Amino acid sequence: TTRKKIIIGNWKMFKDVTSASADFSNFSNLIANQNLNIEVGIAAPSVFLSELSGRTQNVVTLFAQNAHWANDGAFTGEISVPMLKSIRVKGSLVAHSERRQMFGETNISSGARVGALIRSGMKAVLCIGETLEQREKGKLHEVLTTQLEEAFIASEIKSASEFLGSDPKNPLLSIAYEPVWAIGTGKAATSVEAQEAHSIIREFLSSYFDKETSSKLQILYGGSVKLNNVQEYMSCPDIDGALVGGASLNPKDFYDLCMKCN
Ligand code: G3H
Repeated sequence: TTRKKIIIGNWKMFKDVTSASADFSNFSNLIANQNLNIEVGIAAPSVFLSELSGRTQNVVTLFAQNAHWANDGAFTGEISVPMLKSIRVKGSLVAHSERRQMFGETNISSGARVGALIRSGMKAVLCIGETLEQREKGKLHEVLTTQLEEAFIASEIKSASEFLGSDPKNPLLSIAYEPVWAIGTGKAATSVEAQEAHSIIREFLSSYFDKETSSKLQILYGGSVKLNNVQEYMSCPDIDGALVGGASLNPKDFYDLCMKCN
């Protein structure tokens, strides 16, 4: 496979400006001293992004955790893609399961966000995943494909080439598979379970777009990824990266985790 591996730390709602700045700089410094074969990124709380965008050393990709679908407007409390772009943020997570569960994110609204990001040439990391109840009812395939299909339609992006963007090594669209039952629980999916879900996703991408497009898109696994299990995920044929929550908060630990994949 030619897909570049990508490891993204998701800081969720942690840190203050002092610790965020220091931790980000420490992480960038460690990464900048390496020959990187992988891509590494951090999705930071939006209030820190402006400060952090001066500290990437051009080696750490800075992501937001959410982005609105409109360019501007009367949307109190929201942050637009042009705003993020203006402070050199390179992309955003979309529809993290915490946003789906607690903040009313739907497949349709997530698709609108993906559309706005891609049209601006920014990377959209669309998060999908099933709950334990859905898995136990045998609905894994249905849930994942519905989440993808409804979002792609709502994005109003018509062609596979737009989803890929202009840099063949770094497609604009990525999918993060995060089984809800594995997030923050320490109950990680086995690599067999993760690979099974990723292959469902890869097959859907193939049927929705085409085989070549599907083979270029990165699919990340998220859910209790740690230093001691990340390599096992990365050795699976359809797992191209990781979305790391808790284990990304300490810069040295997250650096060690990234280097296991490099
Ligand atoms: O975005 C990251 C995921 O929600 C995983 O979080 O690594 O703390 O389980 P976690």
